[in-house]
Amino acid sequence: MSLYELLVIVHVLAAALWIGGGVMMTLLAGRAWASRDDERVVELSRMGDFVGTRMFAPATLLLLGAGVWAVAEGSWDWGDAWVSIGFAGWLAGVLIAMAWHNTEGRRIRDAVGDGGAAGPRARRVATIGMAVGLFEIAVLVVVVWAMVAKPGI
Ligand code: HEM
Repeated sequence: MSLYELLVIVHVLAAALWIGGGVMMTLLAGRAWASRDDERVVELSRMGDFVGTRMFAPATLLLLGAGVWAVAEGSWDWGDAWVSIGFAGWLAGVLIAMAWHNTEGRRIRDAVGDGGAAGPRARRVATIGMAVGLFEIAVLVVVVWAMVAKPGI
């Protein structure tokens, strides 16, 4: 196996973790919120904090590192649209993580503590959280399309 193939395998596995993990967390969050069960929502928020630092953060860094190295190793053109879309999608995902997911667990627990999982504050946090999660998945799907289709090539 060539170094290039190895880098792309690592890159794609990291993308699978990020996207698959995101879809799974969104589905589980939907189920937890629908149950209106305080304990279930709080427990999932703690799991979200755990996978955020143990899985999502390393996966995003690994994805970028292996991707950049693969572009260099494969002698791709840094100006290609698919590479720019990759950078833009990665940055959007990381900004969403820093601005939202990073503090989401605490926000959920505070909201559940203030009126329960069925309370108005928790419902607001749930609605925004689900919308942010779905938007992030949509961004990642666009990037996967760009990586595979390589528009302009
Ligand atoms: C959220 C961001 C990204 C996701 C989800 C993603 C996902 C993927 C996927 C699924 C592939 C496999 C496509 C195929 O082989 O047909 C791929 C390939 C690749 N990606 Fe990314 N990628 C992202 C960002 C980046 C970035 C920022 C770079 C580099 C700066 C990059 C560089 C590459 C390279 C070089 C390949 C191999 C292309 C080939 O051999 O045809 N990716 N990416």
